[in-house]
Amino acid sequence: MAGKKLLLVDCDCGLDDAQALMMALGAPNVHVLGITCCHGNTSLDNACRNVLRVLKACKRTEIPVFRGTSSSLLGQCLDSSAYHGKDGLGDVPDPSAPGLEHLQSEHAVNAMVRIVTEHTGQISLVALGPLTNVAMASKMDPTFSTKLKDLYVMGGNMEAVGNVTVCGEFNFATDPEAASIVLNQFSCPTYIATWEYTLRHQLPWKFFEEWVNLGTEKACFMKTITRHSGKYKTVMQNEAESHLESAFNSCDSYAMATAIDASVVTEYIRCSVSVELQGLLTRGMMVLDSQNLLGKENHAFVMKKCDIEKFKRLMMAALQ
Ligand code: BDR
Ligand code: CA
Repeated sequence: MAGKKLLLVDCDCGLDDAQALMMALGAPNVHVLGITCCHGNTSLDNACRNVLRVLKACKRTEIPVFRGTSSSLLGQCLDSSAYHGKDGLGDVPDPSAPGLEHLQSEHAVNAMVRIVTEHTGQISLVALGPLTNVAMASKMDPTFSTKLKDLYVMGGNMEAVGNVTVCGEFNFATDPEAASIVLNQFSCPTYIATWEYTLRHQLPWKFFEEWVNLGTEKACFMKTITRHSGKYKTVMQNEAESHLESAFNSCDSYAMATAIDASVVTEYIRCSVSVELQGLLTRGMMVLDSQNLLGKENHAFVMKKCDIEKFKRLMMAALQ
């Protein structure tokens, strides 16, 4: 643990969350103190099961896993099973998967507050799902964000391009109020990998094929759980050659990569950000205040350019 980056990961464990987790577990400079789970890509229980499965595949079952919030602050939910599968991990059940009895008894939100307090100023929180747990932590402890070293978020958008609604990215659109609490009330440095940033830095399917065929146990696991999105890939390619998602997009891995190695991002937009809570078409959309008209003090780091070769190396290391 000494000299390593301390990470706490909050996720809704779909496929790209699994990939991001494996990236963190494969990084020698990182120590993952705990993984907190929330609803999102699948039900909360499935998200917990999926994290336990990933830890088993990586032989890292000593990392504590906590069960968090099962719905957004206002209770709405969105369906992403077309990509992640109904169970969130490609619908390829493992009969020997660890059960929920392996979870810690402490609630994820309490665990977040406790762990961050125990390591004040040292923890990078990486948020890969709807921000419900993260927002709740700051409601339980209003000083929560001041105790974080920094926060890495996969979510939101910067050019009004949505993936679940016209202008809404899944994590923010699922719980816009939670996103609003985090973007408007947190004071720690906040690094955001938006949907468009991930689209712009997708990897070729050729990379994906090489990646899942590395021949390691972890690569076999990845190949198995992504069989479903492999089918998705074929559909996407056939349906629209120019479709934005015609390449491999491991969204959550972009936020994780930056937490592991800051030099993966080579350019940021520095401005305050917020989220639309009311618009009929725009609820959940992230708003960039590039003219500082909102007069907010905390300016986020919105990721703009990625060193794709460094990113690929981290992806490869995830499955070694
Ligand atoms: C985000 O939504 C989920 O489907 C992914 O896991 C990622 O966190 C992308 O919009
Ligand atoms: Ca996610």
